[in-house]
Amino acid sequence: MNPHDIAVQAFRTRFSQEPRYVARAPGRVNLLGEHVDYNDGFVMPVAIDRATYIAFSPALNDLTVLVAADFSEEARFTSGTLAGKTQPDGSPLPEWAHYPAGVAWALGEAALSAPAMQAAFSSDIPRGSGLSSSASIEMAFGVAWSTLGGWSLPPMQLALLGQKAENRYVGVNCGIMDQFASACGEADRLLLLDCRSLEYRSLPLPENTVIVVADTTVRRKLTSGEYNNRRAACEEAVRLLARSLPGIKALRDVSVESFNLWSLTLPPAVEKRARHVVEEIERTRQAIPDLEQGRTQAFGRLMNACHISLRDYYEVSIPELDTMVQIAQSLPGCIGARLTGGGFGGCTVNLVASGQSEAFANSLGPEYERKTGLHPEIYICQASRGAGVL
Ligand code: GLA
Repeated sequence: MNPHDIAVQAFRTRFSQEPRYVARAPGRVNLLGEHVDYNDGFVMPVAIDRATYIAFSPALNDLTVLVAADFSEEARFTSGTLAGKTQPDGSPLPEWAHYPAGVAWALGEAALSAPAMQAAFSSDIPRGSGLSSSASIEMAFGVAWSTLGGWSLPPMQLALLGQKAENRYVGVNCGIMDQFASACGEADRLLLLDCRSLEYRSLPLPENTVIVVADTTVRRKLTSGEYNNRRAACEEAVRLLARSLPGIKALRDVSVESFNLWSLTLPPAVEKRARHVVEEIERTRQAIPDLEQGRTQAFGRLMNACHISLRDYYEVSIPELDTMVQIAQSLPGCIGARLTGGGFGGCTVNLVASGQSEAFANSLGPEYERKTGLHPEIYICQASRGAGVL
C-alpha cells in the first residue's frame, strides 16, 4: 500500500470514520549547496515524489490524537501539555511526536491557531536517509493546521515556522533548506534559494537527465551532535576571520580569494570546515549560469567536486557513501554524483543521462552490494510540487 492509503486506512481503523482531509508534503534531494544554508549561501534542492501523508479531521475537544501508522504508535497532547513535551497522562511524548508537536508549538508562538486534531500519518521517505523525512512531517502538519485553523501563509513563512520547531522544540540547529524545499517544491523543476535574502526561484532540471537517488542504508546515530558541531565551527571561522575582514556576517561574505589570504590565521580544523563552505558557495554561484545555459556536464563536475569537499574538508561522509559515489562515477551516463543532505549515512544523489538511467541503476545497486555486503535502495526521482492539502 502507498503512504496515502496507509494513512487513510489507519485513520479509519483508529477513529471509525472517514478523515475529512489529507495533507501531503514531500521530501527533498539537494543537487548542490550542501551545508551552506546556515552560512547564508545558496542551495539547489528538488522536492521529490516521496512524501508524508496525513489523514485528519478536527477534534471535538482540546485533545490532539496522532497515530504514526508506520510504527503503530499513538501520541496525544493538548495546548497545555505541549511546552512540557508530555502527554495528558504525564508520560513523555514519543520522539516522533516532537515534530508535529513542535509545529503546533511554533504556530502558537506566532499566534496562529493550531486546533486539536485527530490524525494518522505515514511516509515513504526513509527516516534518517538525508531526504528530509522530518521536514516533510513538519510541513504536512503545518498545512494540516492551516486548514483547520482557517489561516494561510506564504509557503516560505510556513517553512520558517517548521525550522523554528526543529531548532527550538526538537533541538536540531538545522538551516532552512529542507522545510523550504518541502513547502515550495515545483513539479519538474529544481529550486534555487538565497538563504540570506530568502528569495527563491525555480529553474528547469538539466535537460535529458534523470535524478537517481541511492540509499546506502547506513543510518548514523548522534548526527545532530555532529551537525551542531559543524555549525559551531563555521561560526567560529566567521568570528576569527572578522579580525582581518571586518564587517563579515557569515561565510557567504568571504570570497575564495580572501579566504586563501587569511586561512592560515585559522586553527586547521576550523579552516577545513570553512574552506568547504566558502568553496561550495562559489560552486553554487558558478552552477547558476551552467544550469541556465544548459551546461549539464559542467554542473555535474561541480557535484563531483562537492562530494570531495564534503569528504575531505567538511568530513561528513562515510566509507559507504564514498563507495556509492565512486561506483556511480565509473558508470556510463553518470554526469555527477555526491552525498546529499547532512551526511554520516543516508543517500547519494546522481545526475544521469536519461537514456542510460535504467542501466545505471541496474549496475549501481549490485556493485554496491558486492563491495559492501549491504543491500541498497536505488530509485529514479521525479521533481514534485510542495506541501498542500489534496
Ligand atoms: C540537513 C539540514 C539542512 C542542511 C543540510 C546540509 O538536511 O536540515 O538545513 O543544513 O543538512 O546541507
